[in-house]
Amino acid sequence: MTTEFNPAPTDPEAAAEEPTTPMDAPSDGASFVVVANRLPVDRTTDDEGEVSWRTSPGGLVTALEPVMRRNGGAWVGWHGAPDEKVEAFEHDGFQVVPVPLTADEVEEYYEGFSNATLWPLYHDAVAFPEFHREWWDAYVVVNKRFAERAAEVAGEGATVWVQDYQLQLVPQMLRALRPDLKIGFFLHIPFPPVELFLQLPWRRQVLEGLLGADLVGFQTAGGAANFLRLSRNNAERKVKGDAVEMPDGRLSRARAFPISIDAQSFNDMANDPEVIKQSEALLEEIGNPEIVFLGVDRLDYTKGLRQRIRAFGELFESGQLDPSKTVFIQVATPSRERVEEYRKLRDDIDLLVGRINSHTADLGRDPIVYRHASFGRDMMAAMYRIADVMVVTPLRDGMNLVAKEYIACHDDPEGALVLSEFAGAAHELKQAYMVNPYDINGMKDTLLKAAADSPANRRRRMRALRKQVFTHTIDKWADDFLTELRGTGH
Ligand code: ADP
Ligand code: F6P
Repeated sequence: MTTEFNPAPTDPEAAAEEPTTPMDAPSDGASFVVVANRLPVDRTTDDEGEVSWRTSPGGLVTALEPVMRRNGGAWVGWHGAPDEKVEAFEHDGFQVVPVPLTADEVEEYYEGFSNATLWPLYHDAVAFPEFHREWWDAYVVVNKRFAERAAEVAGEGATVWVQDYQLQLVPQMLRALRPDLKIGFFLHIPFPPVELFLQLPWRRQVLEGLLGADLVGFQTAGGAANFLRLSRNNAERKVKGDAVEMPDGRLSRARAFPISIDAQSFNDMANDPEVIKQSEALLEEIGNPEIVFLGVDRLDYTKGLRQRIRAFGELFESGQLDPSKTVFIQVATPSRERVEEYRKLRDDIDLLVGRINSHTADLGRDPIVYRHASFGRDMMAAMYRIADVMVVTPLRDGMNLVAKEYIACHDDPEGALVLSEFAGAAHELKQAYMVNPYDINGMKDTLLKAAADSPANRRRRMRALRKQVFTHTIDKWADDFLTELRGTGH
């Protein structure tokens, strides 16, 4: 491993605008390449200081690993540590290709442009998006670095699948370097309405960046429609059905491919005897309440936590939910903690939960059990098992996999899912108890209804939800996208 890292200075204007000289394909290149902000491996160091890499838990890598192994694949991504260069290495049958970032780039490309400009803008501007020219410059430079690295490892005519909002310029940059490649792009977060997208000072470059792909995938049909409308009205491109015509005659197609989970493996995990024991111990620990409500989120302002906790606070304070018989467990994974809005949210939630518990708790038992922590998959499955009502109420969400994980893990047919109509998942999980997360009274009514609905109604809904999640898996998602990508062309 090389630890010192001195990146060559790059002029961002030039990186974005200059014509690029195409590169030759390496003779031993990979025929399938994934390009994502993060690598699918985590580094661990044992007691002797020996470093090793473990595949990160997560649906995307699980789904793509077999495809990568079959095809001599490579994954290009950031390894998570600033100012450090790590050499490419082989891991579990595929190539891991780390892309280095300086500490300044982490601040400007990742925390800045990706997570304080694009993230809020694409999520209905639920927090104010900040526009800074230096952040954009860093975004361009880093996207270029990812594109170059992908161009160096992809074999002749390879398929390259670029992931998510951090890398929207890569398809166009990569096409300029390697016109022989088949390029797909998938956006994991919402694609905003045209009126919002147009606020972006660099809207033209971002749109052209995406149009470099042969196929652009979105979580919902609405996202794809927003993108096509933008291409027609604002880039003055001809759009026929789901295809945008490019000046060189190439077509760039846009369609929805709702992402999912490996439902069977979640189900198996939840039925593991150790997990069942864990879930019983957890119930005991929280005092064996009659009803358990559960929220599981990254600590993100798009997840609707302030509104959700306020709704529970009012239900406990008014006695509509009995604090001696009911517990609301909320776990929140720490996330993007150096970004100001996330810090503010953390403090707000601490305060809100503390205030509610101090008003409504009996001695020794809090109605809201809040943990700001990340848990292992077994513990997550144990929590999903004991939740009578799962509460997923984002203000806006690309998909929301937690909703699907609950359905896969909770095989008691009397579970209930309360779901925001503004989560991508709402388009598929139609039998959930739907809420508008901005309507606190409406949300309170629906939480009560979900908890008190007849067993027959809950069973009917849960059966339909399970059928959906078990037939639309992450493998099917990857397969659908790659099959469609293979069929694209002039
Ligand atoms: P997002 O991609 O915005 O984080 P999703 O709901 O689609 O939202 O995915 C979140 C993922 O993070 C899920 O796989 C979920 O199991 C996991 N997760 C969420 N909260 C926790 C937690 N406290 N501990 C461990 N994993 C968590
Ligand atoms: O859902 C969007 C997303 O970027 C995921 O790809 C990622 O797993 C999650 O949010 C966490 O983001 P970060 O990589 O910034 O920690």
